[in-house]
Amino acid sequence: MSTPVSLISTYPDLRGKVALVTGGSRGIGAATCMALARNGVKVAVNGRDEAAIDAVVASIQAQGGTAMAAPADCSSLSSVRAMQENVSAALGAPELLLPFAGGGSSKPMPFSEISEQDWRSSLDQNLTSTFFVLKCFLPALLARGGGAIVTMASAGGRMAAGAPAAYGAAKAGVIMLTRHLAAEIGASGIRVNCISPSAILTERTAARIPPERQEHMRAGFPLGRLGQTEDVAAAALFLLSSASAWITGATLDVAGGRVMS
Ligand SMILES: NC(=O)c1ccc[n+]([C@@H]2O[C@H](COP(=O)([O-])OP(=O)(O)OC[C@H]3O[C@@H](n4cnc5c(N)ncnc54)[C@H](OP(=O)(O)O)[C@@H]3O)[C@@H](O)[C@H]2O)c1
Repeated sequence: MSTPVSLISTYPDLRGKVALVTGGSRGIGAATCMALARNGVKVAVNGRDEAAIDAVVASIQAQGGTAMAAPADCSSLSSVRAMQENVSAALGAPELLLPFAGGGSSKPMPFSEISEQDWRSSLDQNLTSTFFVLKCFLPALLARGGGAIVTMASAGGRMAAGAPAAYGAAKAGVIMLTRHLAAEIGASGIRVNCISPSAILTERTAARIPPERQEHMRAGFPLGRLGQTEDVAAAALFLLSSASAWITGATLDVAGGRVMS
């Protein structure tokens, strides 16, 4: 069985930069905010739950880092626009963008049971929210002539199993949006990559999946365990740093070997 990540690698080139992490208020996003801050990045922490956002900001500040609360509903363009103005005024325009906000039901359901509301909600929460963040924050990266973006897909967008079709389609859309943008803006010095996790234990997933089921799931992963939020944070930092300077348009499966491509 592989060992979980215990230490986030240090990337000195990230120090002093400003990052926006949507969905930074909990789970994978919160772990990534903490890892960025430990690397000297100033972090704008987004989510909708202000108490959860404030808790992440306070943890970062308690460790000597710089962070601000950036509450917004990323599925609303006007809300994301207002966040962009607030963050840029307070910390400066972010050059590291991590549109991670998303989620929704990951329980597979027959196609015939997907309602119009399920469909629209999955697309809004995962794909449209990513588009809105890129739309509002990208102009500053283009003006600067540099930066890095890491988007958030899912194994559900890589394989036709284990997730509802609407969620899978939304996450596959994030992968293709990432590739289009990477191809279009590479010459501006901006890299755009995507992370595609599977079975990451967060507070939410740990509470939802009973321990016996977790044990059963482990057997489906060549590395013999489930993922940790820090596994995803470590991949995100690599893709943001100059250590991955020759990588753009890629989808990195942080999936314990469950997805291989
Ligand atoms: N955990 C996994 O196994 C797994 C696997 C594959 C992909 N992912 C993806 O990874 C990302 C994070 O997942 P997680 O498991 O860490 O989930 P989580 O613990 O439920 O956290 C979801 C985060 O997204 C935020 N969010 C959701 N909709 C939002 C919106 N419209 N506007 C602003 N923020 C919003 C939530 O903020 P509030 O709660 O403050 O509203 C929260 O911070 C998601 O995109 C998910 O699809 C997760």
